[in-house]
Amino acid sequence: MDRQVIRTKNFAVDAAQFILDQAHNALGERNEFRLALSGGNTPAPVYTRLAAIGHDLPWDLTRITFGDERCVPPDDRQSNFRMAWETLLAPAAVPEKSILRMRGEIDPQTAAQEYQDQLDFLAAQRGEPIYRHDLILLGLGDDGHTASLFPGTAALDETIRRVVANFVPKLDAWRLTFTLPLINHARHICFLVGAAKNADLIGRVLEGDPQFPASRVNPSAGEVTWIIG
Ligand code: 6PG
Repeated sequence: MDRQVIRTKNFAVDAAQFILDQAHNALGERNEFRLALSGGNTPAPVYTRLAAIGHDLPWDLTRITFGDERCVPPDDRQSNFRMAWETLLAPAAVPEKSILRMRGEIDPQTAAQEYQDQLDFLAAQRGEPIYRHDLILLGLGDDGHTASLFPGTAALDETIRRVVANFVPKLDAWRLTFTLPLINHARHICFLVGAAKNADLIGRVLEGDPQFPASRVNPSAGEVTWIIG
């Protein structure tokens, strides 16, 4: 695993430029850009900036997926899709056919299976055993979770499925999430971590402390970049 750590005072600007550069690389090599968005609050200004600088991107050649989703309707304030829609997808006029939304509004198990089936179909079109993202964006929770892979939850131990429904006791809520097999199959992973995140936590994850799910992101044939505000 090749890894780089970028610390920046211009978090949104530099992170958006990084994503745009990755897009141009992928489009140049494969005429497609497979991007998985992360949720929570940190990415919002990055997506807003990306919508502003990415106006000349061929969004019809981009495939937008979501690394995880809350089990709520897409118009719910908690929805990662809603956040992405308001900051990036609508402002950049990303065509609907380029967006693969996790349906948080239906039964979690059904939604996870449906999403995995959709990724498998797209992978098969390219003769791939597992869908390979060009870039997966990830966040870092205060407990070291990433996507919706929370410490001590069942999804962390998944070794076969690519997308699962994961019950999170501390939230008393279901989540939909990529699993480590899917995440670690990506060409490039980028952690977006805001300035307010605990520096000790970041350091321990970067050192590979296994108690934190984020430490288990280790692509077999990919690169990892940390952009820290
Ligand atoms: C989610 C995210 C989650 C997030 C971290 C950090 O659905 O909440 O996917 O993994 O990235 O919890 O969230 P903040 O950016 O809000 O700190």
